[in-house]
Amino acid sequence: MIAFDIRCYDRLESTQDEARRLAQSGAAHGTVVVAGEQTAGRGRLGRTWISPPGNLYLSVLLRLDLPPRRVAELGFVVALAVADALDRFLPGRARLKWPNDILVDGGKVSGILIEQAPAATIVGIGVNVRANDDGKSAITSLASAGSAEPSVAVARTAVLDALARRLQAWQSGGFTAIRDAWLARAHPPGTIVHVSTIAGSIDGRFAGLADDGALLLDTDGGIRRVMAGDVLIG
Ligand code: BTN
Repeated sequence: MIAFDIRCYDRLESTQDEARRLAQSGAAHGTVVVAGEQTAGRGRLGRTWISPPGNLYLSVLLRLDLPPRRVAELGFVVALAVADALDRFLPGRARLKWPNDILVDGGKVSGILIEQAPAATIVGIGVNVRANDDGKSAITSLASAGSAEPSVAVARTAVLDALARRLQAWQSGGFTAIRDAWLARAHPPGTIVHVSTIAGSIDGRFAGLADDGALLLDTDGGIRRVMAGDVLIG
């Protein structure tokens, strides 16, 4: 099982950047960077991740010897681990949205950003524990969703424990069981989804995940595979 070496900071521009610096200076597999707030937190697709105090911001440095075609699997492993961890606060309520979003009552409570560095993968996890004050209704937090006095420290421990377990299961058992567990927490097959990709948008019905984690969409033109994009449900 992975052993985490946790480094805590009050404030960073982005835990991703600090983890990358540590990776470049030879830090080990399992190094974790945690910040109380971020001044330049970032999300997927070049977006900003608003990072006030009161939430969980961490990046985990992994040194995995993975062939490139398997790197996409990691996002599902991590999303599932975060959903497991949130069961501690809101049992059974965290749902997964392709590719790596964690939702509660339809609002995004956590996001995952996976970046490559030389000889390392940096897994960034943000969980809205108490703060979600950017005014967007599509964002929620554990507190807003009804968890009584959720704690950032408890969330951090729960996320890292669950991540260690899911990584172990993935490395010893492969992607199939992870994919099945992910699907059990995702939008049901047949759900109408709208996907925006850099090549344009696609409407269809959710038809599961391919072996490599691609989104499968049942469209008027047949089954389409999507490797990167954003999903809107309904
Ligand atoms: C997304 O859903 O767009 C991904 C959000 C990832 C946010 C986390 S917070 C910790 C780490 N540091 C960052 O700057 N981003 C990730």
